[in-house]
Amino acid sequence: MNIYETRRLLDEYLLFHYGAAKEVLPWERGPHEALNFARRTVHELLDKDALPPGARALDLGCAVGRSSFELTRFATEVIGLDYSLSFVGAARTLAHEGCLDYERLDEGRASTLLRASLPEGARVEATAFEQGDAMSLRAGLGGFDIVHAANLLCRLSDPARLLERLPDLVRPGGQLLLATPCTWLEEFTPAANWPAGSTRDWLKDRLSACFTLELEKDMPFLIREHARKYQWSVALGMRWRRLT
Ligand SMILES: C[S@@+](CC[C@H](N)C(=O)[O-])C[C@H]1O[C@@H](n2cnc3c(N)ncnc32)[C@H](O)[C@@H]1O
Repeated sequence: MNIYETRRLLDEYLLFHYGAAKEVLPWERGPHEALNFARRTVHELLDKDALPPGARALDLGCAVGRSSFELTRFATEVIGLDYSLSFVGAARTLAHEGCLDYERLDEGRASTLLRASLPEGARVEATAFEQGDAMSLRAGLGGFDIVHAANLLCRLSDPARLLERLPDLVRPGGQLLLATPCTWLEEFTPAANWPAGSTRDWLKDRLSACFTLELEKDMPFLIREHARKYQWSVALGMRWRRLT
């Protein structure tokens, strides 16, 4: 069973992407700077001043869509793609209905009904969500001025296949925004396909022929499991520029 098709993960990701600060982390003490990750990977990694008119963006592993909606502030057309039908369905519902109700687990059998809402100012008409595999993307996607892939690489069984496709996907001068917590696990990726050393060195090795590394940033994020349990991680955020 793909965990990203489960109700538990759908609820967790709706909270992770759309939850208000008080809904996610009501504790006074806690890593508040780790909130809003799906918004920050766009706003903190993108070079907003270097986009052509009519820019196209691709959000790979978009989950329930928050980063795709953020990308509509900067791109005329945004494709959000994810392998999970359940996540893509939720992103589409948000685009069509403007909101989606979900349960936040508090503990055991106790939960709270919450509502995810589209971020204000997002241009839903610019979005198209599709189910697909980032390791074998369909032909005809075209070129993009922005490709965003947050916390996707270490969830792929063969991430090198995506890296090989990237030079064709990102237009000359375009931006590749990557974030990864480098959490390599055999349940997602056979160990033979993990980087031999650091993920950073592996990416430099694989991408430098076609991209320049412009920005690196440590990006904490927080996923709430229940009222008293969280996953706190620090993703390595990167902006790569496609060579012209
Ligand atoms: C750790 S989540 C990250 C989601 C989102 N980008 C974020 O930062 O919150 C990984 C996402 O990748 C998706 N995914 C896993 N394998 C995939 C594949 N082969 N192609 C496309 N998406 C995939 C999962 O369904 C899930 O939505």
